[in-house]
Formats: sequence, structure tokens, C-alpha cells
Amino acid sequence: MSTADRKPFVGGNWKMNTNSAGASALIGAVTDRSGSSDAEVVVYPPFVYLREVGAAMSGKGTNVRLGAQDFRHEPDGAMTGCISLSMLKDCGATSVLTGHSERRHVIGESDSLINAKTKAALDAGMQVVLCIGELLEEREAGQTDAVNERQLRAGLDGVAESQLGQVVLAYEPVWAIGTGKTATSGDAQDAHTKIRGLVESMYSADAASKMRILYGGSVKPGNAVELFGMPDIDGGLIGGASLNADDFGAIVDATGR
Ligand code: PGA
Repeated sequence: MSTADRKPFVGGNWKMNTNSAGASALIGAVTDRSGSSDAEVVVYPPFVYLREVGAAMSGKGTNVRLGAQDFRHEPDGAMTGCISLSMLKDCGATSVLTGHSERRHVIGESDSLINAKTKAALDAGMQVVLCIGELLEEREAGQTDAVNERQLRAGLDGVAESQLGQVVLAYEPVWAIGTGKTATSGDAQDAHTKIRGLVESMYSADAASKMRILYGGSVKPGNAVELFGMPDIDGGLIGGASLNADDFGAIVDATGR
């Protein structure tokens, strides 16, 4: 399978940004700008705006889909402050993030929790964007490949090959997230090739060739074309630039190939 057979994917992770009016305005602009893209485009607003973002999208005939940044994997019960997968589905979300570096390194999620979340979301029929990537000190110590391998194997532990169609991977070197620093396209391509090779060794050549692997970390309109031009980079997970519909749209356009 060639690059062209993998549908490009661009996710907009709004993180803890926007407010009610801002989220509605942003989704309106995103659907106007990117709603008919051939790429798969998913936005991940804060929980509290999911319903209104979903409502603003419905009826517009847009290809943009709704996702959620986080969730708790138990189905329901005494989990103060948590949001379940069924609640997210109820709000129209069809995609979730797991393993984002801010949840790993700021909030303290472990590999095993990320695995539990990944499996629960797949079992619930959701698409999962599983994020992996090394810290700066890990990169400087030559541990990039080992960290990616550990996080990938742990994240997908117990996930059957038959569920991989619901999985998208995102390689996000932590030192590049929100910092304005980007991995060179060559470094990113190198990491992506190794990650694809790992998927092959864990599953099969067919699974590896179908798996979409996104790059994330300070993707902007000015670097997206070069990054997405690399043969193993199938799109991006976008933070800061997803808050501006024109920038995000230019990044979505950069997947055209
Ligand atoms: P950034 O965030 O684009 O602001 O670097 C990327 C991410 O966290 O996925």
C-alpha cells in the first residue's frame, strides 16, 4: 500500500482554550474553511463545549467530525469529575485522544492507564488517536526509539489487529509541543518509519501499511507541506494552530497529495 492509499488525517486539539462564543465561532470558521476537505478532519473541543460545537456542525453537511480530548474508561459510577465514553458518544463525539503528552507528563497518566483507556474506547466503537513521543532528555540520551516502542507496545497491549482500523497513531516529540520547535522532516520521517516497522512486528505488514501515523508538535502552515510530504507522515495533530481556522485550514490543505 502506498502513501496515497492512506487517507490523510488532521486533528485540531483545542486543549483548554476557547469559551462558549469562541468555540461556536471557531467551529463555524473551521467548517467553512475545511468542511469539504478530502482529508479526515476531527476537532477536539473542551468537554463543556462539545454539544454546542456538535450542534453548530450538524446541518452544515460538513465532513469535519467531533472528538474529545479525554475520558474515563469505566462505564459509569462514582468517579467525581470524570466523563465516560457513553457520555461523549451521547454528545456526538466519535473520536478520542489517548496518551497525549500533557496527560502523560503534566497530569501523570501511566502506560497502563493509557492502555485501559485505549481498549475501552475501541471496545466502545470509538476512533482512538494514540499519542506517543519522547521528552527532550530522553532524546538527548538517545532513547527516542526505545520510548516510542515502550509507549506503543504498552498502549496497544491487548488490542486485536481487527480493531486497528479504529486506531490512528500520533508521534509527538514532547519538546516540540507548543514550543515552536519542530522535528526536522527527516527526523520525523525516521521516527515514523520505525513506528511503522514496530506495527509490522507487533501485527503484520498489512496492518503497518494501513496505519496512519500523524506528526504533532508545532505544526504550522509554514512547515506542514514539508512534513506531510514525507512518505510515512499521514497528517498531523495540531494544537496552537488549530485555534485559527485559516492556519488550520492551510494545514489541512497541506495534506493534499
Ligand atoms: P502544538 O500542539 O501544535 O501546539 O505544538 C500539538 C499537540 O499537543 O498535539
